[in-house]
Amino acid sequence: MGYTVVIGLQWGDEGKGRIVDYLAESHSVVARFQGGANAGHTVSVNGEDHIFHLIPSGMLRKEVIGLIGAGTVLDLEVLVDEIDRIEKLTGVSTEGRLFVDGRASVVMPYHKSEDQWEEVYRGGIGTTKRGIGPAYRDRYARIGLIVADLFAKDLKSKVERALDFNNQILGSRYGKPPFSVGKMMDYLTALRDRIRSFVADVPAKLKQLEDEGHEILLEGAQGTYLDIFFGTYPFVTSSHTVSGGASVGLGIGPNKIQRIIGVTKAYTTRVGRGPFPTELNDEMGELIRSNGNEFGATTGRPRRCGWLDLVALRYSVLLNGVTELAITKIDVLSGIEEIKAAVEYDMDGERIKYPPITVDDWARIKPIYRSFKGWEKFWGTMLPVEAEEFVKFIEGELGVKATLVSTGKERNSMAKRW
Ligand code: IMO
Ligand code: MG
Repeated sequence: MGYTVVIGLQWGDEGKGRIVDYLAESHSVVARFQGGANAGHTVSVNGEDHIFHLIPSGMLRKEVIGLIGAGTVLDLEVLVDEIDRIEKLTGVSTEGRLFVDGRASVVMPYHKSEDQWEEVYRGGIGTTKRGIGPAYRDRYARIGLIVADLFAKDLKSKVERALDFNNQILGSRYGKPPFSVGKMMDYLTALRDRIRSFVADVPAKLKQLEDEGHEILLEGAQGTYLDIFFGTYPFVTSSHTVSGGASVGLGIGPNKIQRIIGVTKAYTTRVGRGPFPTELNDEMGELIRSNGNEFGATTGRPRRCGWLDLVALRYSVLLNGVTELAITKIDVLSGIEEIKAAVEYDMDGERIKYPPITVDDWARIKPIYRSFKGWEKFWGTMLPVEAEEFVKFIEGELGVKATLVSTGKERNSMAKRW
């Protein structure tokens, strides 16, 4: 059987964790392929919210096997904490149920420090300050530590080499004191023993699980417009958030991926700085924020809110090869009389159907809206006629069927449309 990948089509926070948790009912393996603890995936079970940053969201179901691929950057403290939490919540051990690729990058304490000071220094992208950018930078500069290094005989010399570079940045760029080799060695050796049993060769493990007949689900973090290549650069994260990232980040052939589920909210949000054409800086934006509880799961920051942007989504569908849509939080729009969605952009008097390339051009475009009649409220998972019309319009514009529409927070508040 082919694999299923779930990715965000907007600027993150689309509700991927919720969709993954739902699909984990029919998939016994869930794998993360990029990003790190910048992700904040919320899953509501029995009225309780659970937020995970690193561990695949599907692991809240105790029979699910989780994998973390080479393309991720791991904050080992967060990893260990989430292993403990998952074990408490499910009541079963994660041993033999969680596999972390030995090739994954390690986010070090100095990366988090640099991320923070870089934000102050440069004016800021509005990162999550989880050390993501500096950790990927070290990876590509070929001085980063990978998980397998923790068990190597020459760990100390690797740490020295990485520190030589990072301490110079901290010192001469930000005027901050250096991190010591001794402290970093203590940090790593303490955490190393906690993760030892999870380290694996993920491509080989996936092959084995596939051969055993497991249905495999790949969980994206962030969203398409935060992609390092295709996002609103430089207001992006540092990894490949598009569906192709799943192949690279896990070590599987692209032909393995059969279903590409693109997740979008019924409106748009963004945290951090950068272009956002349909942003609402008025009471409507406030209303959506409070109704949708649009505050960051990772940083607690209020999210910027706006109408659905079908121009951005149209291009996301293309970038990801989306085969199915999952629309989340449509219930948040209940009670709003007139709902809008951007169908085209106006750029200097010209109508465009895809977003421009540079952020300067993104800042120049004006969305052209279409209005929709709102609905009162949702009764269970039945879509009111007006909501169904809104969904049908989205499907028509994007040329993709919306197979899942979430109508509430709970696990089973999900309209299935196939
Ligand atoms: P999930 O998986 C929303 C944003 C940050 C910032 C930019 C770069 O929950 O959808 P980084 O810390 O990655 O260097 O920050 O990306 N960002 C997210 N926004 N959801 C996320 O993850 C995000 N992860 C990063 O706000 O603008
Ligand atoms: Mg988030």
